[in-house]
Amino acid sequence: MKKALITGVTGQDGSYLSEFLLEKGYDVHGIIRRSSVDYRERIAHIEENEHFHLHFGDLCDSISLVKVINEVKPDEIYNLAAQSHVQVSFDVPEFTADIDATGVLRVLEAVRICGLADKCRIYQASTSELYGRVEEVPQNENTPFHPYSPYAVAKQYGFWITKEYREAYNMFCCSGILFNHESERRGETFVTRKITLAAARIAQGKQEKLYLGNLDSLRDWGYAKDYVECMWLILQHDKPEDFVIATGVQHSVREFCQLAFHHAGIELKFMGEGMEEKGIDKATGKVVVEVSPDFYRPTDVVNLWGEPTKAKKELGWNPTKTTFEQLVEIMVKHDMEKVAAERLKEQVDLSEFLEKGIVK
Ligand code: NAP
Ligand code: GDD
Repeated sequence: MKKALITGVTGQDGSYLSEFLLEKGYDVHGIIRRSSVDYRERIAHIEENEHFHLHFGDLCDSISLVKVINEVKPDEIYNLAAQSHVQVSFDVPEFTADIDATGVLRVLEAVRICGLADKCRIYQASTSELYGRVEEVPQNENTPFHPYSPYAVAKQYGFWITKEYREAYNMFCCSGILFNHESERRGETFVTRKITLAAARIAQGKQEKLYLGNLDSLRDWGYAKDYVECMWLILQHDKPEDFVIATGVQHSVREFCQLAFHHAGIELKFMGEGMEEKGIDKATGKVVVEVSPDFYRPTDVVNLWGEPTKAKKELGWNPTKTTFEQLVEIMVKHDMEKVAAERLKEQVDLSEFLEKGIVK
């Protein structure tokens, strides 16, 4: 039985990758951090699996990494842990560098210290944010990098140190340069999930308006469940190489918004420009989307579009297994049900209070 160690196991990708590897027959080990609140929602359903194991550790803490790696002796490591929010990286640049840059070095060095450099294959979660202020469209493995946020600069170090360890020590370590991938498990402050949740809440009378930043921003959005397969394929390849993982299709934040509201039963028309642009519910004439300066970034990446030809040819991966349209539909359906369940629970809670005479 092969052993995999996943950092960032509680995150969107970590949870899907755990499921994927368990299905492939792996013994899966994940690194978790101590927290005062419950943050294991995404992996709660697999915690009982006898082949799923959790270990405390932190990418800031070399000792914990050496300890876990030495204990598990994994065949494969998937380094997914990161401070992954680009806007937040402007507020916590030093922490972001510590996890997203130096953290990668700590994992690589821990593997060497444990004497596993020849045996253990390592996947590094790299990002399309490296292309940043893009120098060509679409972007592939040969496109020059121009990182454009503290997050992207830190991830650039992660990319290069992974390449360095491959060349200097002949280690099987690779970066997947993944473009944005979303799902019903996406963190609620990333733009797609923020939109699908708001569309569901507005449609069900639980929210008045959605405030967004740059509506013109363009992204190549894929489905996270499809992308974790690629992480695995990269480590099964006969030689260690870096790959661009993307759908090859690009849409704007505005388009995502329009389609998400459509699936929630609201037809939107956008009027006005820049900060004055508004999304109006065609049926009621109500403004339901507005632009706020709070969601603009000091520097923003606005034109990401990936070219996944190498992954298609060399890994046999299908980039559009789930299309953009299907992705939006899956996310909105999930959030419509989530909001409906919350409303039902509120009604049940309220009826208890009414019965007891606490609320009249
Ligand atoms: P995510 O949902 O934000 O998950 C991040 C994970 O990292 C969480 O499990 C988090 O643990 C963990 N983490 C953060 N700081 C840590 C630390 N100091 N020590 C140990 N664990 C730590 O991110 P994701 O969307 O799954 O993305 C996975 C990886 O792919 C990230 O490296 C991200 O930068 C990269 N990436 C993502 C995308 C995308 O579109 N999703 C695209 C390209 C690259 P807690 O739960 O304890 O916070
Ligand atoms: N989060 C957010 N919130 N973004 C907004 C908003 C808003 O209200 N309004 C517009 N945007 C724009 C952002 O300015 C950005 O151009 C785009 O929507 C996407 O933002 P995010 O969803 O936050 O994702 P990201 O592209 O910055 O970063 C994600 O993808 C990267 C891969 O390209 C993260 O998952 C990173 O970890 C990942 O590396």
